Amino acid sequence: MDAALADRLRSDLLAARYTVDRLRQLWGDDADAALSRGDRVPAVRALRGSDDPAAVLARLFLLGEPADDATLDTALPATGAAGARALGIVDADGRAALDVRPSAAIDATGPVDWLIVSDLGETALGGPLPPEHVLGVGGASITLSGLIPTSPVDTVLDLGTGCGIQALHAARHADRVVATDISARALELASLTLALNGVSRVELRQGDLFAPVTGERFNRIVSNPPFVITPRVESVPLYEYRDGGRVGDALVEDVIRGAAEHLVPGGTAHLLANWEYRDAMAGDGLARVRRWAEEAGLEAWVVERERQTPVAYAATWIRDGGTRVGTPEYEMLAEAWLDDFAARGVTAVGFGYVLLRQPVDPTAPLLRRTEVVNSPLGSAPTGIGDHLLACLAAHDRVARLDDAGVAAVRFAAAPDVTEERHYWPGDEGPTVIRLRQGGGFARTIEADAALAGLVGASDGDLMVGAIVSALADLLEVDEGALRAQLLPQVRELVLTGFLLPA
Ligand SMILES: C[S@@+](CC[C@H](N)C(=O)[O-])C[C@H]1O[C@@H](n2cnc3c(N)ncnc32)[C@H](O)[C@@H]1O
Repeated sequence: MDAALADRLRSDLLAARYTVDRLRQLWGDDADAALSRGDRVPAVRALRGSDDPAAVLARLFLLGEPADDATLDTALPATGAAGARALGIVDADGRAALDVRPSAAIDATGPVDWLIVSDLGETALGGPLPPEHVLGVGGASITLSGLIPTSPVDTVLDLGTGCGIQALHAARHADRVVATDISARALELASLTLALNGVSRVELRQGDLFAPVTGERFNRIVSNPPFVITPRVESVPLYEYRDGGRVGDALVEDVIRGAAEHLVPGGTAHLLANWEYRDAMAGDGLARVRRWAEEAGLEAWVVERERQTPVAYAATWIRDGGTRVGTPEYEMLAEAWLDDFAARGVTAVGFGYVLLRQPVDPTAPLLRRTEVVNSPLGSAPTGIGDHLLACLAAHDRVARLDDAGVAAVRFAAAPDVTEERHYWPGDEGPTVIRLRQGGGFARTIEADAALAGLVGASDGDLMVGAIVSALADLLEVDEGALRAQLLPQVRELVLTGFLLPA
């Protein structure tokens, strides 16, 4: 990549105000929503005839229309049509050769506008993606960015960087980022992405999984790895962006085990993953992920968000490759996928989040939690990464304490917790009490009068033990029995962020 030319392109794109907000202003909310459903017609109509540079660039890069040299020279005055061709973003016919699109994000540090370079998608290509396709920012990328904490750290490893989106996020909070990919093409496009955003603290390295960082350790690892389970037969295309070249979910196992070799004590890894549920002999999918982390000596918090049958999973990924159901090609691929699952006795595939931590003190009680949470996440626009780290810190605070120790802690109900009570008409006592969390995983738990009373009285001043005593008096129940019921519930509420150590 010609760095000086990339710099000229950056200044042209900034001057053109080629941003998410500007484009929405130019084509309107309705066209914007249509475009996100793959319908470009309203946007094409809205921009037709406009010589606003952002409109010219959107027609070229987002709507698939060619631009002649004179138009390009005007829209990109410092780069020019010749420069755009030299950078490989425009072809000889004046059509986009790469997808260059604005992307907006928000995290705890504030909002940011980026420019992302990736390969052209199916709409622009008019057909299935080639195996070496470099993915742009998709739903999974956004999900992962929302899981990454924003506390400052020295070093971050972005494993499988693709277009570079996670490296951009990481560079906001780290002194140094190493971003790796097996694909040389992905690294070329990531390098242009980084240049267009003026980000220089990311080092790009090529290789399989952790090979490019042998012997190095990081404070944080982030990865949306190529976890898609794919039959290893020649007739099935291997898409580099989603398939890490292993049998079943072995890629995820390799990433988890490898993380143990590359995290400093206290360092965390934030991953998206798939895991197989196999027949009764091999046990359940979440337990397998937990075992990989345990054997690697890592703490783990694994959250399953979705589970698919083998048939549904195969259909999802065959269609993702651009093959339509009902065609002979689809049937051949579906046979291959179902044979592959049958060979390992796979009964379902789970999808979700994996949070790993290198223990600081391996003799302390370690967090090893697996759970299914398939309700929508909380309302925080900045994601749940910081919430997860706060939960880990709260866990550390109470996990070492015995029950007497927990009883001596003062907790405060988190500010996003609300209580909901349902009554039979005319009744004095509620039939159902629910505690709801506004942020984080937006969990809802059913509480009895004692638990609701404990959370309600947790204002940071009273110790848990004192609240339990008062509740036992009030409810006329045995204090020891109430304590035995409530203290494990308090531990759970602390880990899940309902109660904060004061
Ligand atoms: C799903 S994409 C994620 C891209 C980007 N990080 C994001 O969040 O959108 C997975 C990336 O992993 C890369 N990859 C595939 N196999 C790999 C391997 N064995 N080692 C390292 N990277 C690999 C692919 O080239 C691709 O860029």
